[in-house]
Amino acid sequence: MAAFFAMATAGSVLFLTFLLLQIFRSRKAPAALPNGSLWQVPLLGETLQFLNPHKSNNIGGFLQRQCSRYGKVFRSHLFGCPTIVSCDLELNTFVLQNEEKYFQSSYPKPIHDVLGKLSMMLVSGSLHKKLRSVTVGFINASRLDFISSIDSLSAKFVASLRNKNQLLFFKEAKELTFYLMVKVLLSMEAEDPLPKQFFKEFQTFMKGFVSLPINIPGNAYSKAVKARKSISLALKDMIKERENSIDVAKEKVDFLDQLIKNASLNDDERVSLLLDLLLAGYETTSGLMALIVYFLAQSPASYQKLREEHEAIRKQGDRMDWEAYKKMEFTYHVINEGLRCGNLVKFVHRKAIKDVKFKDYMIPEGWQVLPIISATHLDPCLHKYPFEFNPWRWEDTSTVKKVNPFGGGLRVCPGSDLGKLEIAIFLHHFVLNFRWKLLGDDCPMLYPYLDFKKGLPLQVERIKD
Ligand code: HEM
Repeated sequence: MAAFFAMATAGSVLFLTFLLLQIFRSRKAPAALPNGSLWQVPLLGETLQFLNPHKSNNIGGFLQRQCSRYGKVFRSHLFGCPTIVSCDLELNTFVLQNEEKYFQSSYPKPIHDVLGKLSMMLVSGSLHKKLRSVTVGFINASRLDFISSIDSLSAKFVASLRNKNQLLFFKEAKELTFYLMVKVLLSMEAEDPLPKQFFKEFQTFMKGFVSLPINIPGNAYSKAVKARKSISLALKDMIKERENSIDVAKEKVDFLDQLIKNASLNDDERVSLLLDLLLAGYETTSGLMALIVYFLAQSPASYQKLREEHEAIRKQGDRMDWEAYKKMEFTYHVINEGLRCGNLVKFVHRKAIKDVKFKDYMIPEGWQVLPIISATHLDPCLHKYPFEFNPWRWEDTSTVKKVNPFGGGLRVCPGSDLGKLEIAIFLHHFVLNFRWKLLGDDCPMLYPYLDFKKGLPLQVERIKD
């Protein structure tokens, strides 16, 4: 009897082992595909875990877990597609540098409905090239206009705080950067009624852009699609009006004038370019401004050093110009460190357009690829004490090669220098006039877009000269 039991038990164990091996074998990935979870929720995959909000100066629980289980490159199922997720600097750089050769921008379909199908982030090939060259040409040619506009708007902002000792900084930063874009792109002043209306609609637009992308009447997503239509119509009307009154002898031309003069563009492309720059130009810069103000509040040594730099610049003359900007060495370090620690953009969307072999990995054609920019910024193998805000680390010139906050390759952010310029000039005014403290425990979060739940409340104290 005992022998029978022993045999039966041994038989069962053998049978179970055989069964498990079969299951394991049938689920084993094809050769060289990166490892990843075997069991996925149908359609959704691991999207909800991936999108779970977390503090912006870490990579979030999902990426931490997957990287420790499978390594810096793993496979998953996200946004409805089989996906390779990369937290590896080399692979990220390879993906970004090989746009159009092996990879292509590929944002989920609902984003197309909000941004519009002609948005620069979504189009590829010759259309992308054309739209991008218009943008880059404008940004390069209008650096000086940006300097004088951000200088006067920042001075106004500082003056507006004369009788205040508390403010919601993120909210103020959004207004400041939005009115700057409206001024430089469309020659409109913050006091005009239309920009105020636009600002409201852009807020709705942004909320929907980052919400659950299902079009149910009245929800954030459907409101965003509606807001986009309404802004587009208003911009189309502006184009018509300006076309009828265009002054060919006018010396100073804004972006709208340039778009109208450019015969290779149609009206839909003009509207889309305006929308792209308005949205990208204010949402990102205001986020970075808030991040830097947040980090400086907690780093008295950085604040002090920054103030000394700007005091020295002020002593050399009142005017804020290109020469003054070039002297802001420590300011650049602060901005770069804010980008690295704050992680304004967590990841970008790409798709493999052919089978790609990179090192030991195989990325099959048609798979989505997500380079996680923030992961390399916070990688302890690349940065010493990565979670510490330390602008001095940028004195080591090799640091710049270990980050890519503005993406890379053919799609590297065309507004990167402009965003830095805006922030440097804003900081000049802010640090020369104020000390500040954080009120409460608001901190930067990635939803995955950057936000401060409470709007970043600050207590400010004016510095007497
Ligand atoms: C200041 C902080 C900013 C950050 C961190 C940032 C980040 C990025 C990133 C990571 C991309 C690449 C997206 C991709 O590869 O799919 C990008 C693209 C883009 N950015 Fe920025 N950006 C910033 C400011 C700006 C500003 C100020 C403007 C415009 C005035 C701007 C306009 C654009 C546009 C038009 C694209 C699309 C480029 C293309 O697809 O060719 N950005 N940005």
